[in-house]
Amino acid sequence: MASQIAIIGTGYVGLTTGACFAHLGHDVVCADIDPVKVQMLSEGRIPIHEEGLEAIVKECLAAGRLRFVLGAANAVAGREFVYLCVPTPQGPDGSADLTYLEAAAHEIAPGLDRGAVVINKSTVPVGSTRLVEHALGRRDVFVVSNPEFLREGSAVADFLHPDRVVIGCDDQSAASRVASLYLGVRAPIMITDAPSAETIKYASNAFLATKLSFVNAVAAVCEAVDADVNDVMLGIGYDRRIGHEFLKPGPGWGGSCFPKDTRAMIRIAEDAGYDFAFLRGVIAVNDEQFSRVVQKVVDAAGGSLEGVRVGALGLTFKAGTDDLRESPAVEIVTRLVERGAVVCAYDPTVTRSPVPGVEIAKDAYGACDGAAVAVVLTEWDEFKWLDLDKLANCMRRRSVVDARNILDRGALHRRGFDYAGIGRR
Ligand SMILES: NC(=O)c1ccc[n+]([C@@H]2O[C@H](COP(=O)([O-])OP(=O)(O)OC[C@H]3O[C@@H](n4cnc5c(N)ncnc54)[C@H](O)[C@@H]3O)[C@@H](O)[C@H]2O)c1
Repeated sequence: MASQIAIIGTGYVGLTTGACFAHLGHDVVCADIDPVKVQMLSEGRIPIHEEGLEAIVKECLAAGRLRFVLGAANAVAGREFVYLCVPTPQGPDGSADLTYLEAAAHEIAPGLDRGAVVINKSTVPVGSTRLVEHALGRRDVFVVSNPEFLREGSAVADFLHPDRVVIGCDDQSAASRVASLYLGVRAPIMITDAPSAETIKYASNAFLATKLSFVNAVAAVCEAVDADVNDVMLGIGYDRRIGHEFLKPGPGWGGSCFPKDTRAMIRIAEDAGYDFAFLRGVIAVNDEQFSRVVQKVVDAAGGSLEGVRVGALGLTFKAGTDDLRESPAVEIVTRLVERGAVVCAYDPTVTRSPVPGVEIAKDAYGACDGAAVAVVLTEWDEFKWLDLDKLANCMRRRSVVDARNILDRGALHRRGFDYAGIGRR
């Protein structure tokens, strides 16, 4: 049955959630505080790069099941469900900053229908369900936790085909009402209490970050003992207790979630009296990985980056998105510039440089024109299929650092390139 849903915040999570619920047949109003975004979305134009999102936004606008309004207060009247999808950035002490969440709760409180269900989809620390209840100050509405696990770059597919849906609330009837919204989605639905739901989200991201740091640490060992990390990961992944997913070496992890969520989890633990030293180690390995990639570029350049031209391939934190928040690529390019390199970058979704002094080229060959070193930082498919003869002809020296292990090492060697990957020669 179609429900009346309001979505507060139309970023990566809110826009995907709103569009997908409308696609599933619900009637959805999305609100944001950014008038430009609201105008664009009302015209069916999408401010972010996300596969398949524009098509379903246009489909649902045309069907009259999706609308965009300015201001949270204008979205909630007559709505049975209100999703909070506002940012929860990292605060100065590492904890999640909940000011957007509280502000949104204050804005919607007077207009909520009696019996409405307010749902936290933002990633929030344990206890935030209570905080929202308090900010709403309404005893006649319910507050439920329903964390989001979508990945940028495949957000629509992840929302419509999730591994699981987690709902946290002590009131079974409110939890069941939220579960009913997902009737068109084939996935296990887990109903638990709010603190457990909130912890599941942080623990998931902490575990995924741990996997990536583990692979990068093993890659460092592989370099020292002359093993190949790609083969090592393939070999361990056949063990079903380990599995093949998310075992890829890289330049380090980043993005809008893992860095802030790992730090927030350390803080949550600390506030509760547990020193999560293990997770601090995971973050330390990641910082080390940025330095290791920079050192590979320094070595490829012959020991110094002063005045050396470097072509950077990729700037976003992963392929398939335009998101530059806490991108390892941006961190590494910044460090290269600090060490005197002259960097020209190319990324298929980036037109303005996020790093002062770095030029943006219109393709990979433009970025590497006259460069002494090319460094692959984001795993865009088009970098896998580079014309290596063209690359060889445009570079001043034939040297590649492949921080994603996606290039054809043999083909590069045959053309006289020096090649440095992660955890393999
Ligand atoms: N991006 C991801 O991959 C991802 C995945 C899972 C969970 N999350 C979590 O979801 C939350 C949102 O993340 P995001 O990446 O979508 O953020 P975002 O910054 O892309 O979008 C947030 C949106 O909320 C709007 N907003 C802020 N205050 C508002 C208010 N009072 N009323 C209406 N709109 C308001 C902003 O203008 C912005 O458009 C965060 O807690 C994040 O940790 C993100």
